[in-house]
Amino acid sequence: MKKVKLGVLVSGRGSNLQTIIDNIENGNLAAEVAVVISDQADAYALERARKYDIAAVQLSAKGYRAKREEYDALLVGELRKYGVELVCLAGFMRIITPVLIKAYPNRVMNIHPALLPAFPGLHVQKAALEHGVKFSGCTVHFVDEGMDTGPIIIQAVVPVLDADTEDSLSGRILTQEHKIYSRAIQLYAEGRLKVEGRRVMIRDGKTSADEFLINP
Ligand code: GAR
Repeated sequence: MKKVKLGVLVSGRGSNLQTIIDNIENGNLAAEVAVVISDQADAYALERARKYDIAAVQLSAKGYRAKREEYDALLVGELRKYGVELVCLAGFMRIITPVLIKAYPNRVMNIHPALLPAFPGLHVQKAALEHGVKFSGCTVHFVDEGMDTGPIIIQAVVPVLDADTEDSLSGRILTQEHKIYSRAIQLYAEGRLKVEGRRVMIRDGKTSADEFLINP
């Protein structure tokens, strides 16, 4: 199978990036990380990339606060330079603009640590605890022009326990993030994701609901 060239955008520790790399290395993911790009110079994710001889690009956002489109045009330039086909946001803490989305329509994925459309935005595990929900989880979705609003590809559900802290809940969700992000990318690689309006259908196989029920 042809390997999908990924561009992974990060801002921090990069545990989702690491799992993608691990799944590629152990043959579970028909992809290649062509480039890792960070808006933060000290992102540990860049070091992770370098360890595997993956191109690690730091693209500082300084000076682009009011010029998000210009920043995204630079991003698109880098992604094209490395022949990227699918862009994966993995803890990339910037709002992206139509410049990136139009360059990669239905080819930008994001992982979010909540069951969208509940709890979009930041600090969502804390928000879920404070709200008192009994279940939370994570979502892989295609990125559209809204904030965490694009078509949902896969979700995983985790219970919220009485004893949970923000850390313990985040950890339980992260374990599932690591599973579903690679799975979504693999489904893309197999050409099995079909976007119909807001719905993403998975061709020839189980639905995401069959595969990802509630994970303790
Ligand atoms: C992950 O929990 C991811 O879902 C979240 O940031 C973390 C990055 O961790 N993303 C967002 O909150 C995006 N709004 P990682 O750097 O270890 O992959």
